[in-house]
Amino acid sequence: MFAGRRVLIGVTGGIATYKVCEVVSTLAKAGAEVRVVLTDGAQQFVSALTFATLARERAYTDADFWSAEHGAPLHITLGQWAEVILIAPLTANTAAKLALGLADNLLTNIVLATAAPILLAPAMNTQMWEQPTVQSHWQVLQNRFHHLGPQTGRLACDSVGTGRLVEPLEIVDYLGSLLLTGGKKDLLGRTVLISAGGTREFLDPVRFIGNPSSGRMGFALAAAAAHRGASVYLVYAPTELAIPQGIQCESVISADEMAEALFSQFATADITIMSAAVADVRPQTFHTEKLAKAELPKILPLESVPDILSTLGERKRPEQILVGFAAQTGEDFLDLARKKLFVKHLDWIVANRIDKPQQGFGSDTNRAILLSKSGQCIEVPLVRKLVLAHNLLDCLVATCDPYTLV
Ligand SMILES: Cc1cc2nc3c(=O)[nH]c(=O)nc-3n(C[C@H](O)[C@H](O)[C@H](O)COP(=O)(O)O)c2cc1C
Repeated sequence: MFAGRRVLIGVTGGIATYKVCEVVSTLAKAGAEVRVVLTDGAQQFVSALTFATLARERAYTDADFWSAEHGAPLHITLGQWAEVILIAPLTANTAAKLALGLADNLLTNIVLATAAPILLAPAMNTQMWEQPTVQSHWQVLQNRFHHLGPQTGRLACDSVGTGRLVEPLEIVDYLGSLLLTGGKKDLLGRTVLISAGGTREFLDPVRFIGNPSSGRMGFALAAAAAHRGASVYLVYAPTELAIPQGIQCESVISADEMAEALFSQFATADITIMSAAVADVRPQTFHTEKLAKAELPKILPLESVPDILSTLGERKRPEQILVGFAAQTGEDFLDLARKKLFVKHLDWIVANRIDKPQQGFGSDTNRAILLSKSGQCIEVPLVRKLVLAHNLLDCLVATCDPYTLV
């Protein structure tokens, strides 16, 4: 995703500057060419030397902006060099300048001199964030730039509120999306409903039937769709993953709960992607008290849980797109997936083998074959789940009726 890609990072003078060191380090380790531009304010918090060392490239300051050393104006060359730009943390001060189109330092000049997609990640004290002037600048910026956060949580000033910088790895993923898509918002105006994780069917309060699904694929799909401008509703079964920013989420445990959540959202979804691993069966009886070891049944009577995907397939209107996943083992995985595609009235199915290393449950990567009802068959090699998510969304965007919004 990042190897050989050119990422410019603008750092402004907020206390969260130290967190951007991790963004720079992660990108450099992933093979990106990273150039960092610091405002004078940023240098009060972390030195250019730190960023240069992490990026393995020199870092730039306003002294460079006015220097004759570079020949061509530096803001033009850096603006043209960048394939994607991140400004993090974005201060109230720099936000105001960007909203007005001011250009009084190297970074704000680069913003005006580039055609690259720009991601803004603001961070500041809650009181500052909630100021009407800051909010009105933010309204302007949200319409013009990609943006992430700020989060709500504990702030450096020891208060709890909105103003935290989003987590570095979430920023890195968004930059990955911008590099993969060129920053296009081709899902703007679309509602995407996604399920993730593995449901649990309890026998008693401590024992359940479940599966090892980590939710990574569904979360990657949710992030990718949101980065492309969709309004995303994510229904997730138990997972250790952090809840992504800017996505409406609902947490569920059992197949029944997942069915209820999905059925209530389905009618207004343009695209529904069922990546959750739903336990197919549950114990016939649920015991409210923990069973003693000696009381555990030797044979456990089971019953089926609702077949969510089939019901969605039956309810689907022609303009809606429904995607299922077929996590299979064995050589006939593609035949099984193709059968599921037609039996459940799906538009697309993602067939993947979970009996191979580095793909399927719990892994950050996946390999899959995307099958459509009209006969398309697209092989996706072993890639990060975020990349697979974008590959699938590319297919769905191409099949979405451009004139029909649900
Ligand atoms: C200790 C300290 C922490 C600050 N943290 C923030 C912050 O988190 N967010 C913010 O918008 N401004 C913060 N400021 C104020 C900015 O540094 C100040 O507005 C500065 O002019 C920003 O300049 P720049 O946008 O060019 O970097 C802080 C100032 C100090 C002294």
